[in-house]
Amino acid sequence: MLTVNNISKVFSSKKKQIKAVNDVSFKLNSGEILGIVGPNGAGKSTLLRMIASLTLPTEGTIKINNNYTSTHNRGIKDDIGYVAVETGLYGSMTSFEFLYYFGRVHGYGKKEAFNRITELASLLDFDYYLYKKISHLSTGMKQKISIARGLLHKPHLLILDEPTNGLDIIAAYYVREIIKKLKQTQTSIIILTHIITDIKMCDRLIVLNKGNLVYESNTMDVINNYNSLEDLFFDVTRYNKNWIYVKFLDTKRLSFFAQQPFMDCSTSQVDCQSEKIL
Ligand SMILES: Nc1ncnc2c1ncn2[C@@H]1O[C@H](COP(=O)(O)OP(=O)(O)OP(=O)(O)O)[C@@H](O)[C@H]1O
Ligand SMILES: [Mg+2]
Repeated sequence: MLTVNNISKVFSSKKKQIKAVNDVSFKLNSGEILGIVGPNGAGKSTLLRMIASLTLPTEGTIKINNNYTSTHNRGIKDDIGYVAVETGLYGSMTSFEFLYYFGRVHGYGKKEAFNRITELASLLDFDYYLYKKISHLSTGMKQKISIARGLLHKPHLLILDEPTNGLDIIAAYYVREIIKKLKQTQTSIIILTHIITDIKMCDRLIVLNKGNLVYESNTMDVINNYNSLEDLFFDVTRYNKNWIYVKFLDTKRLSFFAQQPFMDCSTSQVDCQSEKIL
């Protein structure tokens, strides 16, 4: 369904160049949920924006259903739904007006747009606030409207950038149920998330770190091979799980030596403690 081949993205300014994504390749099949995780600044959103044709790669190619994204943009965009963290909702409109407007932009006739909105309102369970102003909705309610907007044109690929971010437990649960329902309709889904419950519903997982794809696996294999998803994360990104203790000891050492001005740092007791913990 989706083939990402050796893509890179460089952001250039007068002062410096940032390689946000470096030579990343992967595939996604129909009806599959792929999770993308990684630390802040790893290049996840940039990668998704390239897949959604919102920005072009500096190098490499992306194919959706055998069409290259750079050359078949219109057709490609019809195949993709993109839901970003910044939802881009229009607060002064009601949910219905907002979705109707985008339905018409996607080429639906008046009746078709109405029918599609009714269908989505029932699928995502927002019938009861369809005619409420968007600015009066809660975060979770707004997120459902964003997802509905991403689904209006029945895309085969849905890209969700942190879909449960800021939602309460119940709203996040409903969003996950929606994602599972969509999987049953053979929609391919990419979820970018920092939340472990989201990761668990993915079929496959990739980890990005500093622009590089550093790990790819079936989620079940990850669960079997690691005690926890945090362990995987610390392992493949080579972050130190104990840094907080080191920081704490460093602070403690500083105040300790402030009171012992003639002591040699390299042979101190506090240093030995810090080695033990590491
Ligand atoms: N438009 C831009 N211009 C310049 N640099 C950018 C731009 N967009 C992103 N970057 C840089 O690219 C790198 C990757 O950013 P990106 O937003 O893709 O990270 P991310 O993995 O989504 O992080 P987060 O988890 O914080 O959302 C960062 O160093 C960021 O500063
Ligand atoms: Mg991001």
